[in-house]
Amino acid sequence: MQIKEILQTAEIGKEITVKGWVRTKRVSSNVVFININDGSVIHNIQAVAETGIIDEETLKLVTTGSCVAITGTLIESQGQGQKVELQVKSVFVYGTADPEKYPLQPKKHSLEFLREIAHLRPRTNTFSAILRVRHSLAFAINKYFNDNGFFYLHTPIITGSDAEGAGEMFRVSTLDPIKPPLNEDGSVNYKEDFFGKETNLTVSGQLEGELGAMALSKIYTFGPTFRAENSNTTRHLAEFWMIEPEVAFFELEDNMNLAEDFTKYVINYALTNCYDDLVFLENRLKEEEKNKKKEEQSELSLIEKLRFVVDNDYVRLTYTEAIKILLNSKRHKEGKFQYPVEWGIDLQSEHERYLVEKHFKKPVILTNYPKDIKAFYMKQDEDGKTVRAMDVLFPGIGEIIGGSQREDDYEKLLQRTKEVGIHEDTIWWYLETRKYGSAPHSGFGLGFERMVLFVTGMTNIRDVIPFPRTPKSAEF
Ligand code: 4AD
Ligand code: MG
Repeated sequence: MQIKEILQTAEIGKEITVKGWVRTKRVSSNVVFININDGSVIHNIQAVAETGIIDEETLKLVTTGSCVAITGTLIESQGQGQKVELQVKSVFVYGTADPEKYPLQPKKHSLEFLREIAHLRPRTNTFSAILRVRHSLAFAINKYFNDNGFFYLHTPIITGSDAEGAGEMFRVSTLDPIKPPLNEDGSVNYKEDFFGKETNLTVSGQLEGELGAMALSKIYTFGPTFRAENSNTTRHLAEFWMIEPEVAFFELEDNMNLAEDFTKYVINYALTNCYDDLVFLENRLKEEEKNKKKEEQSELSLIEKLRFVVDNDYVRLTYTEAIKILLNSKRHKEGKFQYPVEWGIDLQSEHERYLVEKHFKKPVILTNYPKDIKAFYMKQDEDGKTVRAMDVLFPGIGEIIGGSQREDDYEKLLQRTKEVGIHEDTIWWYLETRKYGSAPHSGFGLGFERMVLFVTGMTNIRDVIPFPRTPKSAEF
């Protein structure tokens, strides 16, 4: 029986066996207290044994980090903080953990230190809570789409295209990297590669997702994506998970409605289904904030912040309107933005966060960006300058979603691929969908880890994925 079920059913008098990892052991004059956790919930179960019940040899092996099975009777707890406890009958030790060497001592460790022991950090309260929330969010995402008539489309990880056209791909090749076979003109002869052509890890499942939408009407992808962008920030990973719905007959406004409804649903799901973990994470944040200056402390607690997003409309405005707001801001006038503001710039995180956290104080959907700073596949507006793009910006995060209505006109799309230098032979299949039964359609990509960051209140993206991959770091 998992601890979650034991605590829920709380069947007093029942004999049960609890299996898990020892968090703490405390020996007093005539009793031993052992706290165990099995990761099913944030709470531990306390096992209590009178002296002599556990033999000396076994008791020595029961240390923080060891793995045990404890059999006993569930009784009402005498102590505070828990309703039930286990009156021990026997203890079996599966695996010991040398107390001199075990890195996770029962004390507060820094997040930086825990990143260095990513193989053990899921055993801490903080990371087990994050991993459970992550799981629930993934489940909620699948549930939302399933309940709304979307089909889960599995798009390839290895591809020959660059969906975002940004050249940030990790190459996949079976050729000798030092001495690859060469053509007569000195270029690499990819015909000898496993796939007979240049391939890379996908940066997005969107292009294939669009093919799915042109047949099944409503699809979504949910898989790993890879970016070789050298952004060493607290918001970027080289390997992250992305959710990409794509819908036939959707225009930009429908796309915005979907993004708002969908994000609210998954946040609300976490509020309902991960409440104990969120309370734990909220308290953790409160502890951290005690050390900060008053003006740096957040006005809302974690749970209040999540409720606020679920209960309020997102602000919608165009990129051009946002630029006006930024230009009129005191911060701009005092020259305090690191990157100067003018129409045409790619908004930086400082601009996005100003709009969301200082100006509107709610999530914002920005639309109709200049075409030169957006991907080739976005539908062009009539003004010839902007495209039907939309980015959703969240407090504390900045961009959490990027999406658009797609260009459905064959000639216009072909023209745009040429302008940005994408070779037709890498995406001829994508272009063909505009030749055969083209339809208006739209979609977006949600960065899964950014959503996990938002919901858990963590501040570094390395702390919301089990094994983060970032520049110069792929140890585990
Ligand atoms: O804005 P992006 O690059 O859009 C796309 O990839 C589109 N193909 C999506 C679509 O329309 N189907 O990425 C989408 C989201 C971003 O808003 C961000 O949340 C996340 O993916 N993201 C990252 N998350 C972590 N690390 C990175 N390096 C990320 N790059 C993007
Ligand atoms: Mg983007």
